[in-house]
Amino acid sequence: MLDARSGLVLRSMRLSDLPSVLHSERRSFSIPWQEATFRGLLRRRSSALLVAEDGGELVGYAVLWFAAEEAELGDIAVLPEERNRGLGRWILEGALREASRRGARQVYLEVRASNADARRLYEKAGFATVGTRPSYYSEPVEDAILMTRQLDTPEDSDS
Ligand SMILES: CC(C)(COP(=O)(O)OP(=O)(O)OC[C@H]1O[C@@H](n2cnc3c(N)ncnc32)[C@H](O)[C@@H]1OP(=O)(O)O)[C@@H](O)C(=O)NCCC(=O)NCCS
Repeated sequence: MLDARSGLVLRSMRLSDLPSVLHSERRSFSIPWQEATFRGLLRRRSSALLVAEDGGELVGYAVLWFAAEEAELGDIAVLPEERNRGLGRWILEGALREASRRGARQVYLEVRASNADARRLYEKAGFATVGTRPSYYSEPVEDAILMTRQLDTPEDSDS
């Protein structure tokens, strides 16, 4: 169980994390987010940027933003050499807890149709496909699959 491992921490992203995050973005996406995007989101109170550290080293991250009772998972990645050991699931669950803590009742995300790893991760975490956005992505042009999941409120999990 990942949660039982010592040294694994999920915390808020800091400006000083950006070099590692940007490096991971470039290794994870054909159109990586740029530094200005992360800086802008870090300034916004309506967003949550989370970093996973293992033994003090950044191993992954997730980005959410909020509007009313909805959250959007805008970005999630695990360093290529750290994949397939449960970190993606662990970060996703932490991000969903954070969304729930911030009052969101529903989380949305978009994923490339060909991104089988991510789609499996989301399906296993209870996300359902609710639509397609044709030719949403470029490089390569590809449909987005829109997925959603309802969240428990913190009160639900207290009871
Ligand atoms: C999508 C992504 C975040 C998943 O991260 P991850 O850390 O590999 O995810 P997990 O390890 O939790 O799960 C992946 C697989 O490893 C398996 N796994 C988990 N722990 C394991 C372990 N200890 N030993 C072996 N396999 C394990 C899971 O069962 C899962 O298998 P499956 O794909 O056959 O269902 C990662 O692939 C990534 O960063 N991709 C590039 C960025 C990206 O596409 N992000 C999504 C944008 S929408």
